[in-house]
Amino acid sequence: MSTTTSARRAFDTLIAERGLGFGGDYNPEQWPAEVWREDVALMREAGVNLVTVGVFSWAVIEPVPGAREWAWLDEVLDLLHAGGIAVDLATPVASPPPWLGIRHPETLPVDRDGVRLIAGSRNQFSPASRVYREHAAALTRDLAERYAQHPAVRMWHVGNEYGQIDHGDEAAREFRRWLRDRYGTIAALNEAWGTAFWSQRYAEFEEILPPRRMPYLVNPTQSLDFRRYSSDQLEDCYRELRDVIRAAGATQPITTNFMGFHALTDYWSWAGEVDVVSDDQYPDPASADSPASIALVQDLMRSLGGGRSWVLMEQAISATSWREHNLPKSPLRARRDSLQAVARGADAVCYFQWRQARAGAERFHSAMLPHAGADSDVFRGVVQQGEDLRRLAPVAGAGIQAEVAILFDWPSWWAGEEPARPTERLSTLTELGRWYRELWRRGVAADLVSPASDLSRYRVVLVPHSYIVRPSTATALRDAVGSGAQIVVGAFSGVADENAHVLTGRSPVLLRELLGVSGEEWGAVPDSGSALVFDESWAAGRDVEAPGASILAERLRVDGADVLARHADGDLAGVPVLTRHGVGDGTAWYLGAIVDDGSLSALIGDVLGTAGINSALGGRAEMLPDGLEAVRRGDVLFLLNHSDRHIDIDIDIAEGGTRVDLLTGEKTDRTVGIAPGDVRALTERRTW
Ligand code: GLA
Repeated sequence: MSTTTSARRAFDTLIAERGLGFGGDYNPEQWPAEVWREDVALMREAGVNLVTVGVFSWAVIEPVPGAREWAWLDEVLDLLHAGGIAVDLATPVASPPPWLGIRHPETLPVDRDGVRLIAGSRNQFSPASRVYREHAAALTRDLAERYAQHPAVRMWHVGNEYGQIDHGDEAAREFRRWLRDRYGTIAALNEAWGTAFWSQRYAEFEEILPPRRMPYLVNPTQSLDFRRYSSDQLEDCYRELRDVIRAAGATQPITTNFMGFHALTDYWSWAGEVDVVSDDQYPDPASADSPASIALVQDLMRSLGGGRSWVLMEQAISATSWREHNLPKSPLRARRDSLQAVARGADAVCYFQWRQARAGAERFHSAMLPHAGADSDVFRGVVQQGEDLRRLAPVAGAGIQAEVAILFDWPSWWAGEEPARPTERLSTLTELGRWYRELWRRGVAADLVSPASDLSRYRVVLVPHSYIVRPSTATALRDAVGSGAQIVVGAFSGVADENAHVLTGRSPVLLRELLGVSGEEWGAVPDSGSALVFDESWAAGRDVEAPGASILAERLRVDGADVLARHADGDLAGVPVLTRHGVGDGTAWYLGAIVDDGSLSALIGDVLGTAGINSALGGRAEMLPDGLEAVRRGDVLFLLNHSDRHIDIDIDIAEGGTRVDLLTGEKTDRTVGIAPGDVRALTERRTW
């Protein structure tokens, strides 16, 4: 058994022993020792069973170079262990002490304008700096050797939210090394970067720099490769420390906290390196869309882990303090956010942070134990959540079955958002979110897939916007349609190859045969939009008011596909927008413009219906009442009411069975009522 497999098993064992994980970042070094006992007592009262310790404690452990101040940490770990609270021990490498940057300025990152960043905040390290890496590794080695066998330590947390970028000289050297590995020769690099354009040809690798401040537009492939390199460099930082922890004899699972769709880290590449996927999530209480948007992130986390359960490592119990205007969350909302994560595959829900800071930049960021203390609605809400999570223990480890896949790829996102495109208004994440929302509103489960994923088990594959489509992805999509799947490809997909070079010929070059449609020009749509008309047979029964296209449209011609909608007037009058091409038992749909929500909804509804996809409620994937989220994890049906109205919904109950709400212990009828903001977790039981 490989270490990763056994370490993953150790995580599952922890959850099996203690129930779903519940807790948060715990920073005892910011408080006098007298407070620690009260912390442990209140954690126990709240049912906290997992805390992350030491994330920002480097300067406390190593106040001067080479020092090791362990006494406080020994005491904290012993106290937590005595209290039955498991520790996710952090390598405190995200914020080096000021002395490191003073003595070794090359450890500090340099931004694209050549400004070297200084200590006094956090994250002031260059992932490329050898000296930083040596200091971080030495500290991690000593930490792991000291605590690998400590009974409190059940998990390791490397760094914090890896997402730093550096444009300095050491980064330049590392970037060149990375480019040599990728291309071998400078001629190959010149070819890949298209340096014949604007006289950018390089004679040797030594001439290459990271993209820094330049007079005008940057070479898009240079930018793309710098993003790839930066993600790989950070991943290497993580891997180096993970291996140091293992070498010290630690057998616990090792993780680092991801940040959803984070722009600097290609998590498809990282995911195989962590024993358990964990993520930090801060849905904005001010945004009505946040339940669907965060569900998408949660489905990404489950998908990154190959369907296994994941850890919600950080969230806010009430307000954050880093937004311009920070709305608090009610305890009801905070509870629903936590239960939503569990519904979507989390086996632990944790917060930033346990005790609210009284000093420092995050003094107004909410915490499980607020400034006001335990006599507060926030803390009473925390205690309630501890109770809820105990009741949900039966879902631990259970998975979610999805028959719908959505393609998402970091390099494609990066390349697709380089400047100087037909329009800068087209956003990969916005399109992804809009398409996903149509599934979410119908209670349809979906996996996120990468270009390398196996698509053969999906009945529907959605490609909302993938600027790069590789030949292997085109083959996988063709095979999926060949085996009967519905695939839907959105506008401006399959435009470029892996080097971000535009493919020549009628577009999308690698998919046009499969789609039975091809285009010759993409153009921005005027601000007034472009009205659409549906084909009569398709429009029947679809109630879309004023269908229209905006942002971007393509001049298309059908080559075998049926036309379901066309532009109604203007320059593109009569040009197809939505097409459907039957191929064997499957269908390839194409959307040659960014269309309004109603049209998109009609399209996705039709695709799901054609594929016979069911909702979590059991029947056909119909639209759920507004604000209701339905997801089935294992044999538990979660119903979350994100609205401020009472919702009644009919559910499937097998003959002779009944459904019991794990959260209340009550039996339900076929019609289930869900109060505003409430959550039901219904499990099926046979009564005979
Ligand atoms: C991130 C960090 C935490 C804290 C929170 C505040 O998640 O990892 O240290 O700064 O943000 O929301």
